[in-house]
Amino acid sequence: MSTPTLEETPQNDTHAAAEARTASPRHYLMCRPDHFTVAYRINPWMDPAVPTDTSLAVRQWQTLYDTYVGLGHTVELIDQIEGLPDMVYTANGGFVIDGIAYGASFTHEQRQPEGPAFMRWFEQRGYRVVDPQNVNEGEGDFLLVGSRILAGTGFRSATRSHEEVAELFGREVVSLTLVNPNFYHLDTAISVLDPLTDDVTANIAYLPSAFDDASRAKLEQLYPDAILVSEEDGSVLGLNSISDGLNVVIARRATGFEKQLRERGYNPIGVDLSELLLGGGGVKCCTLELRA
Ligand code: ARG
Repeated sequence: MSTPTLEETPQNDTHAAAEARTASPRHYLMCRPDHFTVAYRINPWMDPAVPTDTSLAVRQWQTLYDTYVGLGHTVELIDQIEGLPDMVYTANGGFVIDGIAYGASFTHEQRQPEGPAFMRWFEQRGYRVVDPQNVNEGEGDFLLVGSRILAGTGFRSATRSHEEVAELFGREVVSLTLVNPNFYHLDTAISVLDPLTDDVTANIAYLPSAFDDASRAKLEQLYPDAILVSEEDGSVLGLNSISDGLNVVIARRATGFEKQLRERGYNPIGVDLSELLLGGGGVKCCTLELRA
């Protein structure tokens, strides 16, 4: 069946929701991968024996940057420090809500110096920086979905950090346990679709098999209308995406997810970050949302 045009679309719920979708300007922090390489292995995607092409990484990254700017979003930059190749994945640099930046404390020693580097950046920009007391990898494992925070654990962030975040931001925090090492951060298994909505109706997309039974049950209960993506789309990090409420920037290869988004009235925009995928990251990993 071909995709119906807007005029042909029947007057059903999908149509009503599609009409309601609006984009809002977002504020992001990115890091140009000037020193990108895969020098160590801290997730199954990484293989230091596979050569990387830094200039291709920069070109692909630039496309993502240009896409955001073209959509009207503001993108700020942090300089990549030589010797910290994973700094390009700014999503791990902290978790920022209401002008408060909860700092990151990395699991693996290779990335630990990134924590203070990001905190310095936040401080210089006037954010109130909170030094974390527990291991956590920022927006890699903390996702703001409407009024509540979904928090991942299992591979990186400690559950104690979930408690810390609940107290700091005074919001409901739902802990979710990841079980597949390929989906080691929450943002590789869940995509936030409605960043503007500030209540519990904000929707998500997720990969059910990435979670343990209890977490899957929680997700089913909290998000009955969620988009469930295929293993195929999950395995190209299709869920590692960024939405402004209408436009959803996703991995170009996630064609099934692209179709699902279109059916729900979103406007998927595919980008190719194959080089950055060698480090185990995609669109969302390269993007930290700054909420003033
Ligand atoms: N190589 C990085 C790591 O394993 C990739 C981080 C991806 N970031 C993300 N937000 N999922 O830590």
